[in-house]
Amino acid sequence: MAGRAYVETVGQHEGEQATIKGWLYNKTDKGKLQFLLVRDGTGIIQAVAFRDDMPAEAFKAAQQATQESSIIMTGIVRADKRAPGGYELALTSLEIVQLADPYPITPKDHGVGFLMDHRHLWLRSARQHAILKVRAEVIRACRDYLDDNGFVLVDTPILTPAACEGTSTLFETDYFGESAYLAQSGQLYSEASIASLGKVYCFGPTFRAEKSKTRRHLLEFWMVEPEMAYADLDDCIELAEGFVAYIVQTVLDRQKAQLEVLERDTTLLEKVTPPFPRLSYDEAVAMLREQGHDMEWGDDFGAPEETALAQKSDKPVLIHRFPTQSKAFYMEPDPERPELSLSVDCLAPEGYGEIIGGGQRIADYDLLLTRVKEHKLPEEAFRWYLDLRRYGSTPHSGFGLGIERTVAWICGLEHIRETISFPRMLHRLYP
Ligand code: 4AD
Ligand code: MG
Repeated sequence: MAGRAYVETVGQHEGEQATIKGWLYNKTDKGKLQFLLVRDGTGIIQAVAFRDDMPAEAFKAAQQATQESSIIMTGIVRADKRAPGGYELALTSLEIVQLADPYPITPKDHGVGFLMDHRHLWLRSARQHAILKVRAEVIRACRDYLDDNGFVLVDTPILTPAACEGTSTLFETDYFGESAYLAQSGQLYSEASIASLGKVYCFGPTFRAEKSKTRRHLLEFWMVEPEMAYADLDDCIELAEGFVAYIVQTVLDRQKAQLEVLERDTTLLEKVTPPFPRLSYDEAVAMLREQGHDMEWGDDFGAPEETALAQKSDKPVLIHRFPTQSKAFYMEPDPERPELSLSVDCLAPEGYGEIIGGGQRIADYDLLLTRVKEHKLPEEAFRWYLDLRRYGSTPHSGFGLGIERTVAWICGLEHIRETISFPRMLHRLYP
């Protein structure tokens, strides 16, 4: 009896019989010989069906199998330098579990609209498979780094009574006659849990009704958000630097094969080691103006500005102390220059833009209340948040890292839509 094997580790069965359960990726018909490329989730293997080596019925099944048919096959594992993965299977049997209808995605080029409409099938391609593996690795790295550095995972709610990151991108939903909003960030709730646990992080889906169509924006994206009590802006920057470097190194160590599938130039990623260059907002604006960008002090950076700033080095760049007016209501002002906030953004190299936003939070009750009013936020909904400044307030800081932008950068993708299995974008809710 042949044992169940997986393509990734099929070499352990060299010279023996092994059974692989998967899907037909591609086939070359040479009459008495059928060369099948079969994927099983862990990899792709070439299987050779030779008419004289297998029962007639099994050979017929090999001939009939269509692209993406689900099949179970058994054969002898042979080392073969020419085969993808280094091994091939000399088949002794093959059974079709379901004969697939003509598959809409063929090796020819398809338009993006067509592929997005067939996202449920597109996920099976070698490229999408590689991206999904890298994404899972990025998430594992985020968790490992924080778990191993004393942060406690605390999940935050998705249905919330108020905005965190501004009221213009809120998804509103009915909550038994009241309005609820899908969370834009878990940060405010993490600020509550630090007084219980010291260092925490939340990790979940976040929602923003972004009306702009760009290569960097999704309506639903995943964010990991560490938050620390008794921590200032410098602590926050230091954590961001170590965190990003660890994520990149982990993917390089563990997903080299997938980066190869994606034809990613890994020499650039290998340079992502601490320290990263740091630049104040003031310095950044001066630099951009020198390069001819049309910018006023106080303006936000657009995509071209972010790209230009990140070109400063091969590493991510940390921009700190943005104008208070351009940032969220909770940002602690710089005590020396209150028109600046103790905020930080981390810009990825190669034009990928902001992957991290964060900073130090307001610790003082009166100032926070003033800001809630200035930003015309509903005071009642923020009562609990203000309470945190009444019962053992501390200096504290944290940030949020967007998983999809990080994956787009590490994989070297042109568009963020491929970084999540089912992207939610303007005018796209299907599949
Ligand atoms: O800079 P943002 O808006 O910061 C916050 O939400 C803070 N509350 C986080 C914190 O301090 N705990 O968003 C953080 C990151 C961005 O740097 C970006 O990587 C990602 O979230 N992001 C998006 N990713 C995809 N699509 C969008 N529409 C995104 N908006 C933000
Ligand atoms: Mg931001």
